[in-house]
Amino acid sequence: MSDELRLDGKVALITGAARRVGRAIALELGRAGARIWVHHHTGTAAATATVSALAEVGVSATAIGADLRDPAATAALFARVAAEGGLDVLVNSAAAFERLPFESIDDERLMSMLALNLAAPFRCARLALPLLRARSGVIINVLDVAATQAWPGFAHYCASKAALHMLTKVLAVELAPAVRVCGVSPGTVQPPESYGDADLRRVVEKIPMGRSGSPTDVARAVRFLAAGPEFITGAILAVDGGRSAAGPAVGE
Ligand SMILES: NC(=O)c1ccc[n+]([C@@H]2O[C@H](COP(=O)([O-])OP(=O)(O)OC[C@H]3O[C@@H](n4cnc5c(N)ncnc54)[C@H](OP(=O)(O)O)[C@@H]3O)[C@@H](O)[C@H]2O)c1
Repeated sequence: MSDELRLDGKVALITGAARRVGRAIALELGRAGARIWVHHHTGTAAATATVSALAEVGVSATAIGADLRDPAATAALFARVAAEGGLDVLVNSAAAFERLPFESIDDERLMSMLALNLAAPFRCARLALPLLRARSGVIINVLDVAATQAWPGFAHYCASKAALHMLTKVLAVELAPAVRVCGVSPGTVQPPESYGDADLRRVVEKIPMGRSGSPTDVARAVRFLAAGPEFITGAILAVDGGRSAAGPAVGE
């Protein structure tokens, strides 16, 4: 990465940063010079490991737990972040992913998906806003190519990411010029652990670059949007090997 893409003196909070893509974003923003809040839910030990990995490269980081479906727990998280010095970068990465036929998505499953993938980043943005306004900060939402493609079997997931895609744009307009709001839209960068070879082949066939990406690809895009040109807001950067450019696909 360019030496210009620095976040020295900044504070970044990444939700769902104990493992996988969120962890890669935490490591990348830490390497860029930011102090890192490693948010986690069940992954307490994994979050501690992420904090240790950051410490090994000289980055100051703190693990912070919260169930982001719980408004009170989320408010307590941001109260602590405020009390300990404020925030420059909020990355909403925590999310749920689930394949289910439409008719078996009952109200409970629907609301659970929306609670984490839409209401939580909405609430986090609102709670972070006073902190971000004070520092000309930035919000980066982690979306999905599924926000703009129709995938049978993923109605609640696609709808949640489509709503977050629109929220990203609305907030970019409403919060300008004080706070920038952008999105990164990954394709397959780290398949679910349950995926077998046939699942991976099916997905890779849809990617013009002919392979999956990596969590680091997403992390570098987040770093660019956080530390790059300050005239960028409302941008949604596809990190998908050309999958969305290839046009609407039916199915994941
Ligand atoms: N992986 C991909 O290829 C891919 C592709 C497209 C888009 N994306 C997007 O990229 C982001 C990260 O993907 P990922 O695959 O790394 O995600 P993931 O492993 O499915 O989940 C990320 C984190 O969400 C957290 N989480 C789950 N329930 C929570 C709750 N109730 N409260 C707070 N946090 C909760 C978990 O934290 P704990 O582990 O601490 O419980 C988990 O580590 C997501 O927004 C996803 O939609 C990923």
